[in-house]
Amino acid sequence: MKDITKTGSRGFACVRLILLMAIAGFVYLILTETSVSTEFTAQTTLLPAERQLEESEFVHFTPPPTLTPDLDDTGVNSIEVLTNVSRIFYNRVPKCGSRTILRILEKLSEKNEIHNYHSEIYNVKQLTEEGEVRFVQEFMEHDPPLLYDRHLYFVDFKKHGHEPPLYINLIRDPFERILSRHYYILYESRNTPKETKDEFNMTFTECVKQNKTICMSPSNLIELVRYFCGQDPVCESKGGANNAAILRKAKTHVIKHFPVVGVIEDAESFFFLLEKRLPTFFGGALEIYQHIISKMKVRYRNSQKIMPDNATKDYVISKMSEAYDFYNFVRQRQHNMMTAFQLGKS
Ligand SMILES: *[C@@H]1O[C@H](CO)[C@@H](O)[C@H](O)[C@H]1NC(C)=O
Ligand SMILES: *[C@@H]1O[C@H](CO)[C@@H](O)[C@H](O)[C@H]1NC(C)=O
Ligand SMILES: *[C@@H]1O[C@H](CO)[C@@H](O)[C@H](O)[C@H]1NC(C)=O
Ligand SMILES: *[C@@H]1O[C@H](CO)[C@@H](O)[C@H](O)[C@H]1NC(C)=O
Repeated sequence: MKDITKTGSRGFACVRLILLMAIAGFVYLILTETSVSTEFTAQTTLLPAERQLEESEFVHFTPPPTLTPDLDDTGVNSIEVLTNVSRIFYNRVPKCGSRTILRILEKLSEKNEIHNYHSEIYNVKQLTEEGEVRFVQEFMEHDPPLLYDRHLYFVDFKKHGHEPPLYINLIRDPFERILSRHYYILYESRNTPKETKDEFNMTFTECVKQNKTICMSPSNLIELVRYFCGQDPVCESKGGANNAAILRKAKTHVIKHFPVVGVIEDAESFFFLLEKRLPTFFGGALEIYQHIISKMKVRYRNSQKIMPDNATKDYVISKMSEAYDFYNFVRQRQHNMMTAFQLGKS
């Protein structure tokens, strides 16, 4: 049975609740290597360390100096406005503020009358062949216009004889992402099994020093990119040996299938581009985002920051060159689209 979730209408009287949910939304568990499942609960509280880590998420940044990739005139890798859209898949990357984004998308779906389906499966990102067939079937059963979200590595719908949906996604600085993940798992108290918590019960710095798999395995270091590379066996991390292939495929998929991939450090541009390029789905996105974010900053002012020392950070970053290559590629593409829109206006 399919289960189309459409939220009922909420007034501004409920803004407090929505904010609470948005904040609690940051507190959800994403385990990439272990099989722990978790569920979002509105009551989950944000711990000080986690709160501080999230605080720095939504800030502006200067675009990188390189000038790739070029945009085409039409299609997904352009600034063409896409209006005849029936299905969009947000195969969201964990620990990229996506819960807050979900709240915003939920409000937008309500406003723009889009079916918003939110998957409750959090811990299966790689599907078996059979699972992939089932997933594609299930996805296609939902009536358009559909906005579907799930933590899942890219799926090639064409392989299964279906018109592919458009994809969207939001990423963040790769180091910040794994740091955030580490402290999240450590402090999250509800759903993490004791063994996992024990395993994570050390500072991130200590974890790096000991070269623990939970922080420093090659598959963990490139995981962000895998969401874009996909289900294909070529995307499986082979101890770092095939990182170049993973990166290449991921970029190709972005250019072919993702009209918008944002970086959380410039979330405003993300919502601007969603609204401009996919107006039937995301018209009004920027305003809703700005409203929610203005409230969050007030709440997050005084908290303690946990950061590893610079040497640890530099060391970890030196082991994440493909993830940074991908991140900079996405940042640059987002920046190019913004520039193209601004030029188009004048
Ligand atoms: C819109 O998309 C549908 C299905 O993807 C297609 O059959 C139809 O021709 C498209 N319409 C326009 C005006 O492009
Ligand atoms: C980590 O271990 C210490 C001492 O063994 C314990 O007191 C603490 O509660 C643990 N922290 C978590 C988050 O499990
Ligand atoms: C750290 O562990 C990974 C496996 O998780 C291994 O590939 C790597 O070579 C190790 N690095 C060092 C410096 O020992
Ligand atoms: C760590 O790096 C930051 C930014 O690069 C710099 O501002 C800070 O002074 C450095 N801290 C130390 C202890 O070197």
